[in-house]
Amino acid sequence: MLRTRSVIIITLALLACTEAPEPAPCGSACRDAECAGDACVGTDASPDANTDMMVVADVSIPEPDVGPADVGESDAQHAADAGPPPGPVDRERSLVWIDPAIVDDPEMVSLARTMSAASDDRHGGRLFDWTLRRFGTTPFSVREDQANIADELRTTLGPDPSTWDLTQAPFIVTAVHLRIDLAGEQHCGEFRVSFSTTHAVVQPFHLIFLFSMVPQPESGDCYSHAVRLARLSEMTHADFLVAARELLDEHLTPERFIIMETGEFTFFPWEWRQWVRVQNTDPETVAALPFVLENPRLFQTVDAEGLNRGGARTRAFLSWVAENAAAINARTILIPEEFRPRFATAPTAIPRTPVSLYDLDPAISWRYPDLRKNLEIIGCPVCHTADAEFVQTNADRTFSEFYDKELDARAEFLDTWVQTRRRSAVPFGPLQRDPVLPD
Ligand code: HEC
Repeated sequence: MLRTRSVIIITLALLACTEAPEPAPCGSACRDAECAGDACVGTDASPDANTDMMVVADVSIPEPDVGPADVGESDAQHAADAGPPPGPVDRERSLVWIDPAIVDDPEMVSLARTMSAASDDRHGGRLFDWTLRRFGTTPFSVREDQANIADELRTTLGPDPSTWDLTQAPFIVTAVHLRIDLAGEQHCGEFRVSFSTTHAVVQPFHLIFLFSMVPQPESGDCYSHAVRLARLSEMTHADFLVAARELLDEHLTPERFIIMETGEFTFFPWEWRQWVRVQNTDPETVAALPFVLENPRLFQTVDAEGLNRGGARTRAFLSWVAENAAAINARTILIPEEFRPRFATAPTAIPRTPVSLYDLDPAISWRYPDLRKNLEIIGCPVCHTADAEFVQTNADRTFSEFYDKELDARAEFLDTWVQTRRRSAVPFGPLQRDPVLPD
């Protein structure tokens, strides 16, 4: 069943992770709490000596989970009510929606709907204004162009963001992504909505909102949800649109909101961030905006730049790699929080600097020749560049090479699951066999 936490405690260092003394790992910073994705989640946190800010958000959120599914788990015992499995899935029905009847209809899906779900006032204008400006005030990376969009919205939509009609903001829905392949212990995968700005100058700038899919109430398992998604493939177009609307209404809600992510090149170089809900500590805005979005350490991304500098943190990292080489190579292990950055970048004209495993025991490197590549492909900048041109769903709703192949792998995964009632093991990162790995 879906597990939720009544309290989320997130400790954030105000200084760059590469410059500040390192905060303790999630486990020790949060003591009895747990690490969920990028946040410390639990009920009994204590501030760590090295963190500058502790934020306690009294919200109930599902644990983000993009981890491996249970290996070979059988759902057969729960699936009696799901009916016979349908035929082969159609990618653009059961896995990704780019149908204009959905993505161009603001009643179906829009920035107004996703921001409403992410915010406390159930409108989202204030939070959107705040977030656009936050890009320019984070101490570890300053990007000022997003604030220009906020300034322009104040001119075109009015001085008070809480009254903005966000469907008029310069953003289009690029796709809705049904990530049933991420079904795990915590939820049945993620329901995602991606956007691109249409702004003439502040470009390219992409956002994606992640919502949790949960077990079907009647069966309590993910198999029947998988069947529900697979069945979208066999419907008439009219029935499909009705079912899509139901799924959107069900998922674009505050209870389902997990996290927002951005990928943008408004300034050199390309940069990726995650944005998680935390309590607002700014006395001037807290009354109107009790919760805001801040950047946690990036899920499954190694801080190549920081770790290449050497020192105690690098030594700890290399010990961790040596101890877990088999699992790292198989992409089945969580990267500890202390080895992850708050933002990640990729250059455009020069080669990316990979994380160095130069000082690793040569016997380990010999045994796992793709160790470094498998470690890096599960992180934001590498997966978005190894077989993609920075973006996976382009503004014109075409897909990267990576995503195109990934959709085929997800179709096969869903087909196998609904037909055999057995879910194959899913590693972190690419699902496709033999993905293009980074140089
Ligand atoms: C294993 C590959 C992979 C990794 C790792 C990855 N992404 Fe993506 N990303 C994708 C794919 C594929 C999509 C298309 C939607 C989907 O499949 O969920 C996507 C979509 C996006 C989008 C929407 C714009 C676009 O490029 O289509 C953003 C923003 C984004 N990801 C940010 C991130 C961030 C931030 C991280 C790191 C925490 C990250 N991604 C890690 C593959 C990846």
